[in-house]
Amino acid sequence: MRTLITGGAGFLGSHLCDYLLDRGHTIVCVDNLITGSTHNIAHLAGNKNFSFVEHDVTEPISVKGPFDYVLHFASPASPMDYGKYPLETLMTGSLGTRNTRELSLEGGARFMLASTSEVYGDPLEHPQREDYHGNVDITGPRAVYDEAKRFAETITMAYHRKHRLDVRIARIFNTYGPRMRLGDGRVIPTFMEQAINGEDLTVFGRGTQTRSFCYYRDMVEGLYGLLISDVIEPVNIGDPNEMPVIELAMMVLEISGAGSGIKHLDLPKGDPKMRKPDISRAKNLLAWEPLTPLEEGLTETLSYFQELLE
Ligand SMILES: NC(=O)c1ccc[n+]([C@@H]2O[C@H](COP(=O)([O-])OP(=O)(O)OC[C@H]3O[C@@H](n4cnc5c(N)ncnc54)[C@H](O)[C@@H]3O)[C@@H](O)[C@H]2O)c1
Repeated sequence: MRTLITGGAGFLGSHLCDYLLDRGHTIVCVDNLITGSTHNIAHLAGNKNFSFVEHDVTEPISVKGPFDYVLHFASPASPMDYGKYPLETLMTGSLGTRNTRELSLEGGARFMLASTSEVYGDPLEHPQREDYHGNVDITGPRAVYDEAKRFAETITMAYHRKHRLDVRIARIFNTYGPRMRLGDGRVIPTFMEQAINGEDLTVFGRGTQTRSFCYYRDMVEGLYGLLISDVIEPVNIGDPNEMPVIELAMMVLEISGAGSGIKHLDLPKGDPKMRKPDISRAKNLLAWEPLTPLEEGLTETLSYFQELLE
């Protein structure tokens, strides 16, 4: 199997590289390192089945095909990152999806899009099922990401209908684990860095907004299950165990043993009030559900950040 992964030097992309290499794939990783790092793939240097191409996917990609699978994971993914790179995010979701798709046509590769729970915006339905069409503030600050991914889904399905492109669409919900970037503004690395440094954990608002967190190992299993399935329609992949952010903060304090407290900050504009996937489709069609308890995943992730900061 020859597989191309865009965004392969990022958090999820690099774990996918590892997972697919273990299953005998030859991997070409394409990344412009805007939010990723070669640190995440340094252990693969010298692996004859792995190659890295530094390239911005908003420009045509000249990597030689054919491929069996093309996985489009490139995109800034944290609100802080897409706030900093709004136009790059829009272009990566639009032009980047178009350019990456070109590689799939040659040799008839299966194309997988990393979409997101953010296509549901600040949801008015709870939990979110795939047939919910979402509540995105079109001109709000988060829309550069939400609308880029919505467009990416739409163009993916248009290519499927028009050119019979073999497609898979993963609607990924909050995922965490080793190789997340410290300082990327996402809640788990932020809390962990603060706990390790003995600082107060910063919680937006009263922390009653809910999130559900999926450990990367479960996520990668779910993504692989979808990749090798025959499911064309979008599939939610995430952990349905929902918790208020304030409880997550307490859990990080407990696991880390930090003596820090909690500092409340103003809620950012457009921050979703709740987020929880309905994973019935993944359960029924992929026989997949996440298995890692949050405490276990958080403990492993904390060790990773502790080593990194040392
Ligand atoms: N981690 C999550 O919780 C989560 C949730 C929903 C969706 N996703 C999606 O999964 C994918 C990976 O997310 P992540 O958490 O690993 O983020 P990440 O920032 O760690 O990885 C994204 C990678 O894409 C690269 N990239 C961005 N724009 C590019 C471009 N124009 N050309 C080439 N490379 C580019 C970055 O350098 C980075 O290595 C993203 O598409 C994201 O939208 C992630």
